[in-house]
Order: sequence, then structure tokens, then C-alpha cells
Amino acid sequence: MIEGKKILLGVCGSIAAYKSAFLVRLLVGLGAEVKVIMTTSATDFITPLTLATLSKTPVSLDFVKNKEGEWENHVELGLWADLILIAPASANTIAKLANGICDNLLCAVYLSARCPVMLAPAMDLDMYQHLSTVENLSKLQKYGNQILDAEHGELASGLVGQGRMAEPENILEHIKTFFQNKQKLVGKTALVTAGPTHEQIDPVRFIGNNSSGKMGVAIAEVLANQGATVHLISGPGVKDISHEHISSHKVKSADDMYECVNGLFDKVDIAVFAAAVADYKPSTVALQKIKKSDSTMNIELIKNKDIAAEMGKLKKKGQFTVGFALETENEEMNAMEKLKKKNFDMIVLNSLNDNGAGFSLDTNKISIFSVKNEPRHFSLKTKKQVAEDIVDNINEHLNA
Ligand code: CTP
Repeated sequence: MIEGKKILLGVCGSIAAYKSAFLVRLLVGLGAEVKVIMTTSATDFITPLTLATLSKTPVSLDFVKNKEGEWENHVELGLWADLILIAPASANTIAKLANGICDNLLCAVYLSARCPVMLAPAMDLDMYQHLSTVENLSKLQKYGNQILDAEHGELASGLVGQGRMAEPENILEHIKTFFQNKQKLVGKTALVTAGPTHEQIDPVRFIGNNSSGKMGVAIAEVLANQGATVHLISGPGVKDISHEHISSHKVKSADDMYECVNGLFDKVDIAVFAAAVADYKPSTVALQKIKKSDSTMNIELIKNKDIAAEMGKLKKKGQFTVGFALETENEEMNAMEKLKKKNFDMIVLNSLNDNGAGFSLDTNKISIFSVKNEPRHFSLKTKKQVAEDIVDNINEHLNA
């Protein structure tokens, strides 16, 4: 699982830097290719020679490689890695990374890398609890980095508390799980709908809604990170995404989204309907801008196709479909009704009554209902974490 994986280890100035040597040995022992970048202060705690010997590769320390002025290509290093692990991650480096500061090689590699990044913080307990550190770590997590929480125990200061870098064996377990997860959906194809649809009234006006598409995009990313080939069908305003396993299909109206989904549905194993599709569209689209005249105006609306329900009719054995329900009242009952009516295997309920849940926000609070399992209720989490919970539940059903 770890064999052949390219792991870039960033080592910062902390007494825990000695543990990096064990980490390198464990990773190399399992067949990983390891390259090490050290910050200047890391070299006060452990020598580059130790890590170069254990990793069997010269350690990178600065933008300039040697006296001849040869350049250490930070972009190349970032692109080389399958995973960047910063262990120990000091309060200083965490603050720099959280704020885009780029005054050393490690920061530059971090900023230019496309692969996932894990950080194992190490510092004294008060530094770890300081609001600025807490905020910086939460920022990094929001940017998609994984934080391996510091462990509790005796610290270099003599104080006892949380701040010790996670033990190398525990870090190794995280890395194994990470690479294992990457394999879970290899060979599977998925489609995800995301965002709003715009239903044109005239050339300059439309009916839309506040969906940002963040939830659907996060789900597409998690599915792709686990190896699935993903088609992301997104409405206007949804952010562009670049991922080797994601094909992006941009659509505007519910009709466009239907056409796109209908063309792909037959080929997919998993379909997640996260879009906030407009239920109605104007019965006619004015060819010219409508001029104001009377004091009131009526627009006749007709029903759009229900994409999820239509696909539910076409669903074949082996296909797994997931719907969303956004409810303000009788939440569970409405969600269960939609599950049956649209022939979903699983439905994700988010209630607008929950603080922190809903359109545009970065957090969400969900419950999952399925045909087979008891309802599951989750706490308020970032949309990325929610996406992971949803995909975990999909995997559980696929493997049942
Ligand atoms: N959906 C869809 N096509 C539509 C409407 C909804 O694919 N035209 C999908 C949504 O993506 C979601 C599920 O159906 O997965 C439920 O959407 P929701 O808007 O909550 O339900 P509706 O069926 O539209 O019912 P209502 O608006 O009356 O609650």
C-alpha cells in the first residue's frame, strides 16, 4: 500500500524532529520513496546527514542547492510527491502555511504542491491551545489539509498536556489509511450534480437559487480521491475544479442538467444528486428583454423534469443513487418520502433549522437515511468532512 509511494517529509524546528528519523525509517522500510525538506531551525535539532542517510536521498534545505548556485526546484518537488507530510509541524510553519507566507523552501513546496498534505503539529501545550494556533490549524483544515492531532503527554518544557507530535507509528497508520482510501473506489464511475440551475425568463433575467454547489463539489472530490472516475455536472457559479479523476460538465438550466445526466447515467455505478434544481421554469422565454409596463406582472411557470426521479426509473441493479433533501418542517418524514418516491438507495437530509447548515456556508449538519440502515445523525462539520461521511456510507452499502 505504501510501497512505491512518493512521500515528501517536511521537518520543522522542534524537539520532536528526532522522531522524523524513525518516521523516515518506517516509511523506507515499507518501500516508500522519501525525500526530506528541513527548515533552517530543524537543523538545530537533527542533522541533515541523519535524514539523508535514512532516506537515501540528499536533504533539501534551501532554494539554492549548492555553492554553484544550482536551483532547488520547489515546483518539481511539489509535483513529485503523492503526499506531503510535515512532521513535526511547528507553530511558526503552521502560521506561515495558513497565511500563504513563502519565505523558505518548505513553504514554497507546500504552496506549489497539488497532492494532499498532512501536518503533525508539535509544540508546547499553551502554544497548541493559543487561539492563533487553533485558528491557523482550522484554516489549514478548511483548505483541505489533514491535521494529525498532537498527543497528550510530557513535553520538552516539563509540562504535561497536549502538544507532543503524534508517534511515528500512529502517523504511519494515518498514511496507510490514506493510501488505502485512495483505492476504495478504483474502477467505479460516479456522477454528481451540484449547484443551482438558472431558468431563463428573458435574455437578461433568470430564476435561480442560492446554492453554491460546495457540497456537491466536496463529494465529487472525495469520490475522486478514493479512485472513482467522476463526472461533475454543475450549474452556474459553481467553482471550477481541477482533479485528474474529475470531468467537469457545466450546465445552465434544469433541462441542460437533465440532458447531461441522462447521457451519462447508464455508465455510472454511483449517482449523487446534490444539485438544487429549480422545480419550475417559465413556460416561455421572451426573446427580447421584457420592458416594465403594468404595476404587476405574472410569469407562468411549468414544472421542470425531476432529474433524480427520472434516473430512479432507469436505475439498474448494481447502481447506487443518493439524493438530498433540504427541509424546513417534518424533516425525517419528507426525507423518507423522497427516498421512496425517487427510488434512492440513500438520502442526505439537511435541515435549514440547524445553525451552520445550508447554502453558501462552509459547514453542514446532516442525517443519513437509507433503505437498509437505521438513520444516522451527524454533528456540524465542514462540508469536506460531511462529504467524507457521505462517501463512507456509500462505501459501506457497496461493500455490504
Ligand atoms: N432533484 C432533481 N431534479 C429536480 C428536483 C430535485 O434531481 N427537478 C433532486 C435534488 O438534487 C435532490 C432531490 O431531488 O437530490 C430532492 O430535491 P428537493 O428539492 O429537496 O425535493 P423536491 O422533489 O424538489 O421537493 P420539494 O421542493 O417539494 O421539497
